[in-house]
Amino acid sequence: MRNFSVVQYNVRYFTRYANYNGVLLGAYRTDMADETITDKKSQHGEWSSRFAFIMAATGSAVGLGNIWKFPYITGENGGGAFVLVYLLCVLLIGIPLMMAETMLGRRSKENPIHTMEILTAEAGADKNWHYLGWMGVGAGFLILSYYSVIAGWASAYVVKSFFGSFSGASAGEVKAIFEAFVASPMQLIFWHTLFMVATMLIVARGIEKGFEKSVRFLLPWLFALMVLLVGYAMTTDGYFQGLNFLFKPDFSKLTADSVLVAMGQAFFTLSVGMGSIMVYGAYLPKDVSIAKSSMMIAGADTIMALLAGLIIFPIVFNNGLHPNSGPGLVFETLPIAFGNMFGGWLVGILFFVALVFAALSSSIALIEPAVAWLIENKGFSRQKACIYSGSLAWVLGLGTVFSFNAWANVKLFERNFFELVDYLTANLMLPIGGFCIAVFAGWIMKQEHSKHELDLPGEHLDYQIWKFLVSYVVPAAVFLVFLNVVGVL
Ligand code: TRP
Repeated sequence: MRNFSVVQYNVRYFTRYANYNGVLLGAYRTDMADETITDKKSQHGEWSSRFAFIMAATGSAVGLGNIWKFPYITGENGGGAFVLVYLLCVLLIGIPLMMAETMLGRRSKENPIHTMEILTAEAGADKNWHYLGWMGVGAGFLILSYYSVIAGWASAYVVKSFFGSFSGASAGEVKAIFEAFVASPMQLIFWHTLFMVATMLIVARGIEKGFEKSVRFLLPWLFALMVLLVGYAMTTDGYFQGLNFLFKPDFSKLTADSVLVAMGQAFFTLSVGMGSIMVYGAYLPKDVSIAKSSMMIAGADTIMALLAGLIIFPIVFNNGLHPNSGPGLVFETLPIAFGNMFGGWLVGILFFVALVFAALSSSIALIEPAVAWLIENKGFSRQKACIYSGSLAWVLGLGTVFSFNAWANVKLFERNFFELVDYLTANLMLPIGGFCIAVFAGWIMKQEHSKHELDLPGEHLDYQIWKFLVSYVVPAAVFLVFLNVVGVL
């Protein structure tokens, strides 16, 4: 029997080293009685409060998905109608799934792959369910490869802001700065490397107190800065046009593919569909309401995305830019505000610093499944696991680096490398993962068990709504959207 060291989510707030016995689990959990499993506590302890859990899960959810991805895909997909579909997906698919994932984690109190093994055994279901865990590992890894490149852009923009590159800059100048930047593979590689190394160091050494504190401190800062920037956006002439773009649905702009992108974004931004949240759920004390916590996390995440939209689109229209200018959108618009608003130099620096930290708190959660897998199944040391998985994700990230310059026109299915990896993960792997998690929670797991874990206060009705959503709405929605995209519907 071997003992493995695994970073797990800290009882107090974030991740930290902990030991557990990886081999034992599968063997003896199979025939555990119900009381034994539900009364069990995680060997790593529990969250000290609901707040600690919410902060950690929000740290994983809020990141580039809200501030970089949401605005540009909204711009590419025509605005209002897309946003509406996205919001519906968060509400009807994202929140029920986040509850399901948290619940599965809390029930088994183990990492995602063991969770699936334990719970399939408990439900007497097919062993193949644990492949779900592998897909999560794969998705996290693939997402990380490009996440690091884009987070590298944000890091570079801290330095550009510091040296006053944007001061007084026009929209054209800001765009030129961005284009010159992404045209240089060497610069992108430099920042991508820096960000990946930072992620690897944090995960390899266990989360340090300093990092925990920074994230806890900087997330509210990010929020405050964004509110300030909305204030700036309100003073521009493009504000109402931006507001209209974001909230006035024009359904003629909605294609089958944009519905899939909106659904994929709901998964991506909430970090659901890959078992990531299960890890957090494992440390959740029994008396914390999963439903309420999930709603608060999803609410905070959605607010951040909408704020980003409220800042960026007014700037777009005020400066005669195009909403559909792609992944560079945030980097071509926000600096205009920083270059021209009062105190913009400082606001710009703080904003990009906060964004880099928000991205770090997501990237460490993205790399962790792969690291844990290498440690548990391949017997790697934590350091070695970090070096291997980080390096591999780094190499894969080079494909994303070149997608913005040398390989911009190398396309497969009309998509360049970055677009392919993004499509594969957000639009295919996460929804498929979510579909399976929903089917598992709704159909395979015994109803008395899910009821026991969720323990919804409104007695039967709340539980019935959740059960209906995961059993029918989530699987049907994913299935129908897929059929629609392949043109069957
Ligand atoms: N939610 C993160 C963001 O919006 C990205 C993400 C997707 C993620 N899946 C994840 C982060 C899993 C951590 C774990 O930026």
